[in-house]
Amino acid sequence: MADRKMNATPLVEIRNLKKYFEINEGFFKTKQLRAVDDVSFEIMTGETLGLVGESGCGKSTLGRTLLKLYEPTAGEILFEGKAVKGKKELEQFRKKATMVFQDPYSSLNPRMTVADIIAEPLTVQGYFTDEEQKKKRVRQLMDMVGLNTEHAARYAHEFSGGQRQRIGIARALAVNPEFIVCDEPVSALDVSIQAQVINQFDELKKTLGLTYLFISHDLLVVRHISDRIAVMYLGRLVEIGPADEIYDHPIHPYTRSLIKAVPIPDPDRAAADKEEGLKGDIPSPLDVPTGCVFRTRCPYAKDECAANMPELTDRGGGHLCACILK
Ligand SMILES: Nc1ncnc2c1ncn2[C@@H]1O[C@H](COP(=O)(O)OP(=O)(O)O)[C@@H](O)[C@H]1O
Ligand SMILES: [Mg+2]
Repeated sequence: MADRKMNATPLVEIRNLKKYFEINEGFFKTKQLRAVDDVSFEIMTGETLGLVGESGCGKSTLGRTLLKLYEPTAGEILFEGKAVKGKKELEQFRKKATMVFQDPYSSLNPRMTVADIIAEPLTVQGYFTDEEQKKKRVRQLMDMVGLNTEHAARYAHEFSGGQRQRIGIARALAVNPEFIVCDEPVSALDVSIQAQVINQFDELKKTLGLTYLFISHDLLVVRHISDRIAVMYLGRLVEIGPADEIYDHPIHPYTRSLIKAVPIPDPDRAAADKEEGLKGDIPSPLDVPTGCVFRTRCPYAKDECAANMPELTDRGGGHLCACILK
């Protein structure tokens, strides 16, 4: 399970982060798609923050914006307490913060050898001038993620999904990062190998002292690797807290419905099981409801919920929820 060696200063912090996309709707007409809207949280050194929510709620956009792969529409990103802005800070940040992608089939070039794929970030950032040293580092990385070093000259397409994801992890680790955004890293894999790859992430975190933002639409996947879990709905953070608290004592009606959807019976979740199912479909992110973004599907919604998006308020023990009724 996740260990809890944490420092007092957050490694990563986002403040009021927004990412809006301009969507073309015919000639000269654009509409704003609020993929990430006013999200704030911090991740402590050595911590794994799980990020969950239905497909389309903005998880990947948040991960990419946080890494500055997308320019934020508004808000601040801090790394080790310092704002990541300006060329020099960004260069430093790029060496310390990286990403593992969802789909190991499309994110790796099938025509490159495993060694070349893993070495690419080292080559791009000019880490080694000596070829032998670089090869040695590649072998070390392969070993670290449980890949047979004798397979270094093989091509990515010769590997299974689970092995490809290990290649992706080795590649992300090449530059010795401190922080990794793992964007649904096991969602494209067979259920039978998901647990192995998740355990690999957890082990690497411990041996290398990494910090993760671990994204998944599947609450069961994040539960076991996360120290804390953040729940997103339509671009907004609706609940955040210690993983067990979120799972055993969810507060927000949306979180409760997510947990109810998990198909494994669990007596600890008796309270959540009484929850009514969600009404209707998720609204288009181009037409986000006024007030609380969840109110159109909430079984408890009242008129007052249409007024404002509720702030996250502390419910004790670092468990925060954005709901005026719960
Ligand atoms: N590059 C983009 N341009 C326009 N819209 C985008 C872009 N990327 C994501 N979106 C939209 O932003 C919303 C959030 O998407 P995404 O972050 O991929 O959600 P998730 O990862 O939770 O499934 C979706 O409505 C998606 O269609
Ligand atoms: Mg995604």
